[in-house]
Amino acid sequence: MEVVKLDLNCIKNSYKKRPCDSHKGLHGHALLIAGSLDKMGAAIIASKACLRSGVGLLTVAFYSENKNVLFHSIPEAMYANTCVMNDLSPYNAIGIGPGIGVDEISLQYIYELYENKLPVVFDADALNIIAKYKIDWKHFNFPFVLTPHPKEFDRLFSELNSESERRSIAIQKAKELNCVIVLKGHKTFITDGIQTFENTTGNSGLAKGGSGDALTGMITSFLAQGYTILQAAKLGVYLHGLAADITLQTQSEESMLITDVIENIGLAFK
Ligand code: APR
Ligand code: MG
Repeated sequence: MEVVKLDLNCIKNSYKKRPCDSHKGLHGHALLIAGSLDKMGAAIIASKACLRSGVGLLTVAFYSENKNVLFHSIPEAMYANTCVMNDLSPYNAIGIGPGIGVDEISLQYIYELYENKLPVVFDADALNIIAKYKIDWKHFNFPFVLTPHPKEFDRLFSELNSESERRSIAIQKAKELNCVIVLKGHKTFITDGIQTFENTTGNSGLAKGGSGDALTGMITSFLAQGYTILQAAKLGVYLHGLAADITLQTQSEESMLITDVIENIGLAFK
């Protein structure tokens, strides 16, 4: 199968310019289920990246006492405790996983999604939960994106794969599960089982904890705005890497923080 380079040309076909008479209702309401007592950074990073990627409204749900951390860091976001999952009707897309842990409470969040019809991004601990509790994919009757790094991929689909084996398993699984798989790495690979793309942006400044959480926020934002799962994955991966490349103008690969990268999402759009 031909692997298409994910470059500016490829992205221009998917990107929809914001109409000048738009209002927040047109740009979707994202729900991020992220963070826990010891891992609020994951929720904050995913939320900032989600907001910087154009969503109209963002609600962040977590089961902890850390509400004020969210309000102080991101006044634009709304908080909901995880009971919010009893009624998903206000939302247009869900991102789940960064920093949620893999205990039985977090497992319940995955169960709550079973009847849902919204598009979902599964990342980090959401992927680890699916692997740990051997969740049957047949419960996921909604559009979804999986964003594993290689270890998460191996936990989900089999152990000890080489990168080229991972890519062919990703194509096969994306087709079988009717989803999009974003296999993250230096040259992130994206597939829906029919088309495949290899990213051309990004650098080793992203090789730090938190980079993946930002990507989850970005893809969730694009899903809430009405992009398809494949378009949202392509836009998210490309702009995430481009923002990191722009950050090299003022930081080195060593000094770059994911919060610097998030501040440059705007320049990446431009
Ligand atoms: N070149 C380009 N992009 C890179 C590079 C690189 N050299 N290194 C990393 N990236 C990008 C990846 O493509 C991906 O988008 O940075 C992101 C890293 O995502 P993750 O691996 O999910 O990292 P993150 O979740 O932020 O942090 C590590 O994963 O193993 C778990 O529990 C562990 O919390 C930890 C987390
Ligand atoms: Mg991650």
